Amino acid sequence: MKVTVSVLKADIGSIGGHIIPSQALISEVKNKVKELGKDLVIDSYISHTGDDIAILCTHERGISDEKIHKLAWDAFIAGTEMAKKQGLYGAGQDLLKDAFSGNIKGMGPAVAEMEFEERPNEPFVFFAADKTDPGAYNLPFYLGFADPMYCAGLILSPKMADGFTFRIVDVEYTEQDKVIDLNTPEDLYDIAALLRDNERYVIESIYSRSSGNQAVAISTTRLHNIAGKYTGKDDPIALVRVQGEFPATGEVLAPYEIGHFVAGFMRGSHTGPLMPCQLNCSISYFDGPPVVTGAAFCIKDGKLTEPADVFDHPYWDHVRLQISKKATAIRRQGFSGAAMLPYSELEYGGIVEKLEKLEKKFKLV
Ligand code: 13P
Ligand code: 13P
Ligand code: MG
Ligand code: MG
Repeated sequence: MKVTVSVLKADIGSIGGHIIPSQALISEVKNKVKELGKDLVIDSYISHTGDDIAILCTHERGISDEKIHKLAWDAFIAGTEMAKKQGLYGAGQDLLKDAFSGNIKGMGPAVAEMEFEERPNEPFVFFAADKTDPGAYNLPFYLGFADPMYCAGLILSPKMADGFTFRIVDVEYTEQDKVIDLNTPEDLYDIAALLRDNERYVIESIYSRSSGNQAVAISTTRLHNIAGKYTGKDDPIALVRVQGEFPATGEVLAPYEIGHFVAGFMRGSHTGPLMPCQLNCSISYFDGPPVVTGAAFCIKDGKLTEPADVFDHPYWDHVRLQISKKATAIRRQGFSGAAMLPYSELEYGGIVEKLEKLEKKFKLV
């Protein structure tokens, strides 16, 4: 059976700052999805990561389907009403347009979707990150799909011997989608040269070269490109099919042990390590640290199992401790140098006005 998995995610308000949505807000979104999705979706799963609510649903309507996107938009609008009623902070934060116009992409919420022929067993993982942006996935997906140091299957499994195709998007180009397709292993150095720049070049999707089947879909929204100013971080989501011709779940998870430094953290303006956390986690220290959650599912005829929480295991406790230490270490240098993002990433914030004012006060002596 051909099935579509769609995830649509938005920050529509949270308790106590950018921390966690309220139970009432989550219930409102759940109820709306149930009500509006009755004849539209096969199954759904509503979760939150930090202050972002994600609607994951399965259906047979293909990607970019207007009705599915409208369903999510309407559910986010209903949630926003509840957020306003409760006086939550940032009610409707990510809903940047007034009226729905056919596709939720470009309206604020993040979208990751994949349509595929269901395998006899079909495991996949849904990742969601908060207090960071889409480039946060560059390193983990590069290592999980292209580096045998992390993905042992690249040398152990004949099904993966042909490598993968990475579709990378230049998110600075906003006129239309500007993408490049590069193949592993032969284009590895070119892929690395692009992916080192997390703010500009972002993985959008990955395909198996032996079957042509899609393995990965990542949201690539940069909110400031839509709003023209800082309205919150882009908090990206990703879907990844695992096992068989794709990496094993554990291979895809392995790179999150690094706690690599990403853009985000407080006011979306700092550098912090990405911490793998349990599902439905909240946010704390310095509006962070940036977090990522993972929900693994199997799917049969579009029906989802319950989620398996991939980072809820004693192994990750030790990792989280190490990453907390990294977070503290970089925070100790406050605004200085690498701890705060470069000017180009702060261009929509107050610092631009401040520097413009100061510029006038400079004297040539
Ligand atoms: P969010 O994008 O998660 O709302 O965070 C915004 C922010 O500025 C946190 O300090
Ligand atoms: P306020 O200036 O309203 O506190 O918002 C700032 C913000 O949310 C960035 O994190
Ligand atoms: Mg927020
Ligand atoms: Mg958020």
